[in-house]
Amino acid sequence: MARVSLSKIEKTFSGSRKNGGFHAVKGIDLEVADGEFMVIVGPSGCGKSTTLRMIAGLESVDSGTIEIDGVRVNDVPPKDRDVSMVFQSYALYPHMTVFENMAFGLKMRKLGSEEIERRVSDAARSLGLDELLKRRPKALSGGQRQRVALGRAIVREPKVFLFDEPLSNLDAKMRVAMRAELAKLHQSLNATMIYVTHDQVEAMTMGDRICVMNEGRILQVDEPLAVYNNPANVFVAGFIGSPPMNLVRGVLRQAGERIEFVESADEGSGFSITLSSDCRYALGDGSERSVVLGIRAEDLAIGDASDRDSSSATGIAARVSMSEPTGSDTLVYLNSGTSDWVVVERSNRARKVGDEVELQISEDRIHFFDEATGDAIR
Ligand SMILES: Nc1ncnc2c1ncn2[C@@H]1O[C@H](COP(=O)(O)OP(=O)(O)OP(=O)(O)O)[C@@H](O)[C@H]1O
Ligand SMILES: [Mg+2]
Repeated sequence: MARVSLSKIEKTFSGSRKNGGFHAVKGIDLEVADGEFMVIVGPSGCGKSTTLRMIAGLESVDSGTIEIDGVRVNDVPPKDRDVSMVFQSYALYPHMTVFENMAFGLKMRKLGSEEIERRVSDAARSLGLDELLKRRPKALSGGQRQRVALGRAIVREPKVFLFDEPLSNLDAKMRVAMRAELAKLHQSLNATMIYVTHDQVEAMTMGDRICVMNEGRILQVDEPLAVYNNPANVFVAGFIGSPPMNLVRGVLRQAGERIEFVESADEGSGFSITLSSDCRYALGDGSERSVVLGIRAEDLAIGDASDRDSSSATGIAARVSMSEPTGSDTLVYLNSGTSDWVVVERSNRARKVGDEVELQISEDRIHFFDEATGDAIR
């Protein structure tokens, strides 16, 4: 087991930035604790795999320091870093049995046959592969093959496991099952694991902590629910959570005792809502500020259009544009003239398309982000 620490890591591909190289990783810092399950999540191309490959030693680091258990490993070759990596393509040897696939790396390391036998059968048992040890990969399902790939990593008993989207080749049901198995495996091995995915649901459900990346930078590192409840900026707000957070650009300003949010739209066609003086914090020192208002789908409610009167200061007139029952909940899509919204209703009753309704916002659930920087205003 081991701590992994990245400090000011930079990576530019193909030569220097001056001659058009690609700046894939832009000075990231990350501390992964001993035994932690850290998930790195972000959209395609944000530098997740590059980061993982630098930890594994498969990719060089331009500058900065990578430490495993306090030892600088920048110049240590991959095989001596004591890490195991599992990829999306499990790349098993087709002519070898499951046993031989799992034992291969250990044979190369010249371990004794009893030790190999012990490690492979322990791993096979914990992965439910005992019955399959004599089969060849082509006689296995995708999930079973992925488990063999995991087994191959486990038998090496590494200090750190690195996973690069290991479940994305599996169908949805198998993915959910394997997610749970990986979580169990993490508990039983108590090993440090760094897991890369672009799937925010996977990140939310698996990580002790999650690290959200975008465009080569780390935007936030925290426990999943902390990231969900307090996204550090507008990108994280829109990326983590399904359906994504509703985000509306506008201006906040003082309106007598209260605060007003006015949607940015042409010729006053947007909506405005009046908020209590509790929202004063979001204005900062000025009397007006360009912001993005964020609100999660479950923090919105739908009322009757006839509810719309002066008593409901945070209501917006809207029209139902689509209704998606998922069984337990219904996702209702609304349009308020210049903005689209999604609301989760705890009901399996579909809304009628075209109905005029009132969209009700819980003021204390609103997130404000500075429009220029994207940072959350707290
Ligand atoms: N060998 C390379 N040469 C040049 N550019 C590269 C190389 N490897 C990666 N890149 C670029 O660096 C960026 C980050 O790539 P990386 O593979 O780390 O993304 P990722 O976050 O893993 O994305 P995905 O979710 O699609 O796997 C991408 O824009 C990619 O095109
Ligand atoms: Mg990748």
